[in-house]
Amino acid sequence: MIKTVEYIDGKVRMIDQTRLPLEKVFVDCQTIEDVDNAIRTMIIRGAPAIGVAAAMGVSLAAEAIGAEDFDTFYAKLERKCDALAKSRPTAVNLAWGIERMKKVACNSKDMSIPELKRRLKQEALDICEEDIAANKAIGRHGQALISDNSTVLTHCNAGALATAGFGTALGVVRAAVNSGKNINVLADETRPFLQGARLTVWELMEDNIPVKLITDNMSGFFMSNNQIDVVVVGADRIAGNGDVANKIGTYMVAVMAQKHGIPFYVAAPISTLDLSLASGAEIPIEERSEKEVACINNKRITPEGAGVAHPAFDVTPNDLVSAIITDKGIAKPPFTESLKRLTQ
Ligand code: MRU
Repeated sequence: MIKTVEYIDGKVRMIDQTRLPLEKVFVDCQTIEDVDNAIRTMIIRGAPAIGVAAAMGVSLAAEAIGAEDFDTFYAKLERKCDALAKSRPTAVNLAWGIERMKKVACNSKDMSIPELKRRLKQEALDICEEDIAANKAIGRHGQALISDNSTVLTHCNAGALATAGFGTALGVVRAAVNSGKNINVLADETRPFLQGARLTVWELMEDNIPVKLITDNMSGFFMSNNQIDVVVVGADRIAGNGDVANKIGTYMVAVMAQKHGIPFYVAAPISTLDLSLASGAEIPIEERSEKEVACINNKRITPEGAGVAHPAFDVTPNDLVSAIITDKGIAKPPFTESLKRLTQ
């Protein structure tokens, strides 16, 4: 299985997702600031992967802190955590991973500083392992929804590369394939960052799972020709009412799926739920650099001076979502009740 992120020899090692699939290059982060930069620049991306990397980053910060007592240690750690939490706003897993590390520190006040550092490192490793286990559970639950001989449409990359391993949406696909089903995947290319074309296609090909690349404006055509049986996507944050923030373009896919009576499933771990938000209207949407839209391979494709917008995510309203597949089970509408039940 592809190692998206690993904590080895006091460094956080990541496969550089800005260079895949053409180059398989690893980046070693030595400090929390390196991790912050890797998240901002999308060397690592995908909600669960960001959460795992952030937790490892907090451990790197803890290792570097010189302090004799807990209060001094924690004040320094908290400052570093606050800065890291600003690296990307939409995926709630980032804040989730950081908060979990802070909580462990606060619950370990009585430890010596070296013991506390070891404890935090262990927590980061646990978060990584738990993410893989959660994705496998998502796969187990989700594969039951996918019939044999199905064509699955997915958007962006919600695969092993977007997580610590196995993937959420692609975890469902992998589990269906592992259970003996014949599955074909259609991967939206996912403009502007091309996570579908570069990452989803690459990782499915590595696993010999049949995949075909389409551009983002083709899915309606394939739906209207009965060539898509089911849509499975990931999520960056799910509000209490089941509204789903995911990669820009997901909303259009969901509307089209409903129009054609095709089930639209969202696969995400419990750490992607943000039940503190009543609806998706409260989810902060990241605005990324216009260069990512205006340029392809660093070459400008639109006139200099042209206005360019780049919201990186959109919100799919809950009435377009057939079910949310989590590691704790499947939530069906009405989501306000079903999601709460899963987290109890
Ligand atoms: O901007 P990205 O590449 O971090 O966006 C990723 C997505 O939108 C994924 O679909 C989502 O994080 C789920 S990943 C399991």
